[in-house]
Amino acid sequence: MKPFLDVLAGKAAARPPIWLMRQAGRYLPEYRAIRSQARDFLHFCYSPELAIEATMQPIRRFSFDAAIIFSDILVIPDALGQGVRFAEGEGPRLEAMETPEALRGLATALDEEKLEPVYQALRGVRAALPSSVALIGFCGAPWTLATYMIGGRGTPDQAPARHFAYQHPEAFQTLMDLLVEACTRHLCLQAEAGAEALQIFDSWAGNLPERELRRWSEAPIRRIISGVRERHPSVPIIAFPRGIAGGFARFVSETNSDAISLDTACAISEIREQLPAGMVTQGNLDPLVLINGGGALDAAVDHILESTAGLPHIFNLGHGILPPTPIAHVEAMLRRVRG
Ligand code: CP3
Repeated sequence: MKPFLDVLAGKAAARPPIWLMRQAGRYLPEYRAIRSQARDFLHFCYSPELAIEATMQPIRRFSFDAAIIFSDILVIPDALGQGVRFAEGEGPRLEAMETPEALRGLATALDEEKLEPVYQALRGVRAALPSSVALIGFCGAPWTLATYMIGGRGTPDQAPARHFAYQHPEAFQTLMDLLVEACTRHLCLQAEAGAEALQIFDSWAGNLPERELRRWSEAPIRRIISGVRERHPSVPIIAFPRGIAGGFARFVSETNSDAISLDTACAISEIREQLPAGMVTQGNLDPLVLINGGGALDAAVDHILESTAGLPHIFNLGHGILPPTPIAHVEAMLRRVRG
């Protein structure tokens, strides 16, 4: 009935189900048209009607097997009282929290009222989706959220958060604990509003040394997964620890995730051999090859299909789709994946 959920339950499919990270975004003309209606990006996320429409756009155009709710990982710091804004063309800006004292200004729990529009949008999307399409809810992992909360913006090497964690490990642990609670609650509320699968984005896991990866990425994600599972045992959870190279098999066993999303840089054929055959993977097409198209795209798609043949795999990118991606290339990729 829902091929995406069947594969997440461990059943291999003749053709993998497909969706794309950031599938609602600026590469779509219909997205650009509604994006200009909202005052700024966060207002867009918090306007249920616009969020429902943005979520549905790529489903209508491409008939993907899953819809991901249109929102952002930074709604959690926003709902913890840290100011978040998206400066046009510059990416996210937060009031940087570079000292343990600054962290004390955060709320002690998520402002669920503030996030109600997200849950409302989930209910609306769930009602509007075709019966074969699954709905995904998501959150950022505590480590990735902390890199934005401490740095105040995206940083190439996450140095502010890494320094903070070395200098103030106790205050950093307190922040992780707060974020574990907030993420668990946000994911549970999304499941209660209709999300049928959940994805945790640890986009900046890749710059952590081994011991820090265990402590600041794997351990918090493990706690979130077990907390969500206690209340929603049948909702599968996908982890996306971007950039951890050879660490996927251990990551899965440490966090108990139901599936692992593979980034662009990892060798999917080798990783599939290291993972138990029943482990569900997702990914890892290069967003840049999708921009290029042609023979390079065909070869890259075929490589993923061959590396995952007979195994439970969800076709996706290794990171979000980029604004210059031609729609014709998404269509060509879909034809090839669907056979
Ligand atoms: O995948 C989807 O279609 C669902 C929506 C979604 C968005 N952001 C919408 C968005 C999801 C799942 C995210 C996750 C997200 N947001 C991550 C983790 C995944 C990743 O990319 O590593 C991160 C790190 C963020 C934080 C964030 N939000 C950044 C750094 C930016 C600016 C970059 C950019 O592309 O402009 C955003 C803005 C953002 N989030 C946009 C979208 C569609 C672009 C906003 C616009 O329309 O201008």
